[in-house]
Amino acid sequence: MRRGAIGAMLAAMTAIAIYSAKGGVGKTTLAVNLAWASAVRSSRRTLLWDLDAQAAASFILATKAAKASAREVIERALDPDAAIVPTAIPRLDLLTADASIRGLDALFASLDKKKRLRRLMADLARRYDRILLDCPPGLGDTSDQVIRAANLIVMPIIPSTLSRRAYEEVRAHLGHQHKGVTPILPVFSMADRRRSAHRAAIAADPDWPVIPMASAAEEMADRHAAIGAYAPRSPVAVAVTQLWTAIERRLTR
Ligand SMILES: Nc1ncnc2c1ncn2[C@@H]1O[C@H](COP(=O)(O)OP(=O)(O)O)[C@@H](O)[C@H]1O
Ligand SMILES: [Mg+2]
Repeated sequence: MRRGAIGAMLAAMTAIAIYSAKGGVGKTTLAVNLAWASAVRSSRRTLLWDLDAQAAASFILATKAAKASAREVIERALDPDAAIVPTAIPRLDLLTADASIRGLDALFASLDKKKRLRRLMADLARRYDRILLDCPPGLGDTSDQVIRAANLIVMPIIPSTLSRRAYEEVRAHLGHQHKGVTPILPVFSMADRRRSAHRAAIAADPDWPVIPMASAAEEMADRHAAIGAYAPRSPVAVAVTQLWTAIERRLTR
């Protein structure tokens, strides 16, 4: 297929990657809740694509086991449909992850297809308005694929001077390698205003969205639900909805 043809197929759909080089910074929490906001608040046909072999998003939202392994989808041995399951949230489907994509960087490298993820998303673009990618941590072939496939990268950052520096480094690296084509939206994650280091970091970047630390966020795995479904008025749910609104505004601008 011609290069431009993939772009044409992708035109109607928007892909948002929740990415950081670090683990444990709130990627999955943001991905699940932003996907909920897309499907419920914006009534978008939404797909949450779990790209992390730890499969936390799949554990939270999957209503049944998928027919295919995540690896077979990446290899294009099977249609992505075989790994897509419905969620309990209207308009939200899930492309499940499992241990078969442990070492996803090596898998992408062995395939030698720089736009494999983009190609797979083009196949899905007719059926979904929004695809959210819950990314594994790391800076390698997977993040390269994500950058080529996404329209926007949302990067959760725990407020601190060192996290801020790490963000600058990752941004410089991605910008260097990909000519800065994919915009990055930094978001303070797990922010605790009782801590002076968090307050200082937030004061240094007052324009960045802030997702507060909250116990409601930790209940997602036990409740198998997005926060908006069980604690819609909690500060963390309100912050996620505000963030989603800002993302939508930015994408449709
Ligand atoms: N805003 C938050 N408030 C409280 N706990 C959070 C928040 N965001 C994430 N967590 C918790 O922090 C841990 C790591 O979050 P997770 O979203 O899995 O990060 P990642 O996907 O980047 O590894 C999880 O136990 C999660 O429940
Ligand atoms: Mg995760």
